[in-house]
Amino acid sequence: MKKRILTGDRPTGPLHLGHYIGSLKNRVKLQNKYDCFFIIADYQVLTDHLSETEKIQKNIKEIVLDYLSVGIDPSRSTIFIQSKIPAIAELTMFFSMMVSFQEVKRNPTVKTEFKLAKERGRISEISYGFVGYPVSQAADILFVRAHLVPVGKDQLPHIELTQEIARRFNRLFTRVFPIPKPLVGEVPVLPGLDGKKMSKSLGNAIYLSDSPEVVKKKVMKAVTDPARIHPTDKGHPEVCNVFQYHKAFNKKEAKKIEIRCREGRIGCVECKRNLIERLNEFLDPIRKRRRYYEQRENLISQILISGNKRAQEEGEKTLKLVRRAMHLDYKQILHSKEG
Ligand code: TRP
Ligand code: SF4
Repeated sequence: MKKRILTGDRPTGPLHLGHYIGSLKNRVKLQNKYDCFFIIADYQVLTDHLSETEKIQKNIKEIVLDYLSVGIDPSRSTIFIQSKIPAIAELTMFFSMMVSFQEVKRNPTVKTEFKLAKERGRISEISYGFVGYPVSQAADILFVRAHLVPVGKDQLPHIELTQEIARRFNRLFTRVFPIPKPLVGEVPVLPGLDGKKMSKSLGNAIYLSDSPEVVKKKVMKAVTDPARIHPTDKGHPEVCNVFQYHKAFNKKEAKKIEIRCREGRIGCVECKRNLIERLNEFLDPIRKRRRYYEQRENLISQILISGNKRAQEEGEKTLKLVRRAMHLDYKQILHSKEG
């Protein structure tokens, strides 16, 4: 039997080139060897975006389109929505009794958010659900008894907690869960066009769904080596954001561009024009696939319905094992084979 992978995203907006280089590219490849589950984590959106729930549906659709357009194959992989899987909520409840309050408070992501909120005088806005979200994320992973979890570095503490919960459960009751291993992407994260972290809120990202014109406009505005004023000035590609994109999306020419930039033999405008062409070549097949699915709304709906169904079935199997292991199936008083 194939080993299982689980990973996913919060539906908070469209995915960008940083997501592609950092994880989507890898997911497409992993589909060949693993039974992959991709979770669209809508509960997690609720932990800190409760005032914008009306946007979630559209964002889910966008993310499914992003997945399909980069080549995630619904005939091999399971794409599903977190809140449609009862087992995730039920496991979250069980797991929340197996994690100490201290452990949750020690989680680095939770700690950082607490600090930020304190600085902004918004500590009262941090919800009970938010503090517990790493426990819920453990349920996301363990409900399918996943073996591998491809994630970014920032998610490692969550995976460690997940491992700890799995070990604890197996030790306290019966062995139900494999201990999931993180699979951290080796590719350095692509910077935003302004050199800061690529993110939706900073407006410095190129989206998988951007048109050729938008890509052109964004790249033309990108920040390059600040020491370069004239095209003949000697440049420093290592500090230039545009060059990071050449390295990721124009591997063949990157070396040549690096040398020409250092020697002042290429201007930033020419260099950007070249990148725009390469990016659009890369994005064209993605755009084509997106159009295919956009014209077939029913297909998207079918993909999600069958993904949810498969995930639900796997969740039920796990829950049955969990209840039995915890002596919570209450067979003697319920006289049912159903668990
Ligand atoms: N927390 C992840 C993020 O913000 C998304 C996510 C939710 C996830 N559940 C998961 C990732 C389970 C890996 C496994 O990107
Ligand atoms: Fe960056 Fe290219 Fe300009 Fe060099 S020539 S600074 S690599 S944009």
